[in-house]
Amino acid sequence: NALKLVVTGGAGYVGSVCTARLVEAGHQVTVVDDLSTGHADAVHPDARFIEGDAAEVAGSLLREGFDGVLHFAAKSLVGESMTAPSKYWEGNVVTSLRLLEAMQEHGTPRLVFSSTAATYGEPEQSPIPESAPTRPTNTYGATKLAIDHAITSFAGAHGLAAVSLRYFNVAGAYGAFGERHATETHLIPLVLQVASGDRERIQIFGDDYPTPDHTAIRDYIHVVDLADAHLLALKHATAGQHRIYNLGNGTGFSVLEVIEACREVTGHSIPAAVAPRRAGDPSVLVAASDRAREELGWKPERTELTGIVRDAWEFTQARRG
Ligand code: UFG
Repeated sequence: NALKLVVTGGAGYVGSVCTARLVEAGHQVTVVDDLSTGHADAVHPDARFIEGDAAEVAGSLLREGFDGVLHFAAKSLVGESMTAPSKYWEGNVVTSLRLLEAMQEHGTPRLVFSSTAATYGEPEQSPIPESAPTRPTNTYGATKLAIDHAITSFAGAHGLAAVSLRYFNVAGAYGAFGERHATETHLIPLVLQVASGDRERIQIFGDDYPTPDHTAIRDYIHVVDLADAHLLALKHATAGQHRIYNLGNGTGFSVLEVIEACREVTGHSIPAAVAPRRAGDPSVLVAASDRAREELGWKPERTELTGIVRDAWEFTQARRG
């Protein structure tokens, strides 16, 4: 049964892959994106595209009557969130609140929200379950957590069927849809820039972590597995409930393991140099995704690091032509 959906941020990395999977599953998708960080040509050709602000444009668009909203549009640079917090409270929290109000006003029944592992901060236990304390260590995570709380209130008060998906480290690509940030801070695309010859070497931020090879460990989830969790979330969303799910591939990989996988896939030597730790980086972030498996019937299928890197590398090479 096809749904009529609004996707905010559908010109961005995760939003564009999700839009592609939704369209291919037969849903009718309208993308709203202000193109502040997204790209118009990243919107799937079979989706309708409206350029504009998620709160204003998507808000008034909901008048047309939609089955749900997938809300990806956000500011998402951790470092910038610490130096320009207003941009994050305004762009993430205020925008999401306006969107929630518009959904309520127009009776839009379902919401799937892009939350983040950054809501947990430095973890006490690993892997991290959804019941872990939420103590974000940066403004980005704080704004996403604030929105999660607002969604809980709206579900309780107004019957919204809501799901927040807490992404761990999203990676990989889906054919022509992938990561194309003007300001790139993420490990895998930066390493692939070295393999492409656009960057001289990769910096390893810290080799004094309490991990087996002393570099930080993250849970890299393939963007297609992540997108498919959104389709399941739409299906399982229940009126009056706000469910929260961690999404990771279940295995952590160290910075050195990522660099090694990139060497294997690209055949490039990828020079690396140790640099100081990046402020606020926890040593290990790995998701316990059991709840998503049990309640959504989700199972990540693209869990091998080399496969994830290969898809990102094919995307990178195709874009360079
Ligand atoms: N790293 C390097 N060198 C680099 C870039 C990154 O060593 O040039 C390291 C980082 O220190 C970290 C790991 O590679 O240990 C992964 O870093 P990313 O920047 O790719 O990802 P993060 O784990 O910092 O960030 C991710 C999401 C954020 C989210 C955060 C916390 O991208 O949106 O997890 O959940 F906020």
